[in-house]
Amino acid sequence: MRKKIIAGNWKMNKTPSEAAVLASEIRNKISDAKCDVVVCPTAVCIPGVVSALEGSSISVGAQNVHFKESGAYTGELSSAMLKDAGTLYTIIGHSERRQYFGETDETVNLRTKAAVDGGLIPIVCVGESLSERENGIMPETVCRQTKLAFLNIQKDDAENIIIAYEPIWAIGTGKTATAQQADEVCGIIRNTIKELYGEDTAEKIRIQYGGSMNAGNAEELLSMPNIDGGLIGGASLKPDDFAAIIKAAD
Ligand code: G3P
Repeated sequence: MRKKIIAGNWKMNKTPSEAAVLASEIRNKISDAKCDVVVCPTAVCIPGVVSALEGSSISVGAQNVHFKESGAYTGELSSAMLKDAGTLYTIIGHSERRQYFGETDETVNLRTKAAVDGGLIPIVCVGESLSERENGIMPETVCRQTKLAFLNIQKDDAENIIIAYEPIWAIGTGKTATAQQADEVCGIIRNTIKELYGEDTAEKIRIQYGGSMNAGNAEELLSMPNIDGGLIGGASLKPDDFAAIIKAAD
C-alpha cells in the first residue's frame, strides 16, 4: 500500500510574511495527518515557511531547481542551495514552466537528475493539453514525458520520485478530470514506469493527480487505485480546503 502524498503548489503567491502566516495556519489544522504533506512556496518564502513549520510533520518543497551546481545562471537556484534552505522536495517541469519559461523534456530530465543527486525528492509534472487529448495523443504525450524525465535515472532512485499527472486543461480552470480519466492516465504512467524499471518499481512509485483538485472531489479522486495523492494549486492557499483534501487522503 503506497502512502499518499498531498503537496501544495503555492505558485507565485504570498509575500514571505504572508507565507509564514499561511504555513502556521495550515500547521494548526493538520496536526495528525496520516499522509505525507508538502507545501511549495516561492523560493524567497522558503526560509520563513521552514521556520514556521519547524517540528511539524509538514515538509517544504521548491517550485523548481537548476541542473548546475553553481555559476553564471542569474536567477536560478541549485539543489544544494534549496537543501541547505530546508527543502526536501522540488517540483520540476510544471506545465506553466514548460509554457512560459522554455522548459523542455530534456531540461526536466537534467533538473530531475540534479535534484536526485542533490538529495531532493523530485515531483515531476507531466500532462497533456486539451488539443492533445482531443486529438487522441494523450497516451503518447504522457509516455514520452515520463520516459524522457527518467532518462539515466537509476532504479533505486526512480522509486522515490513523485510523478504528478496534471492535465493542462484542468489546471486553474475548475474543470477537474473525472476520477476515471485521472486514474486511467495515472495507470498509463505507471505502466510506462513498469516498462522502464519493472513491476516492483511501478508498484512503489507514487503518482499524484493535479488540476482543480478540491475539498469536494478529493475523496473520489484519491480513492482510485492508481492515484497516490494530489498536487494542489488554488485550494492549497486556503487552509480549510487544504486540510479537507489531506483528511480525504488519510
Ligand atoms: O501544480 C498544481 C497546479 O497546477 C494545480 O492547480 O489551481 O488547478 O489546483 P489548481
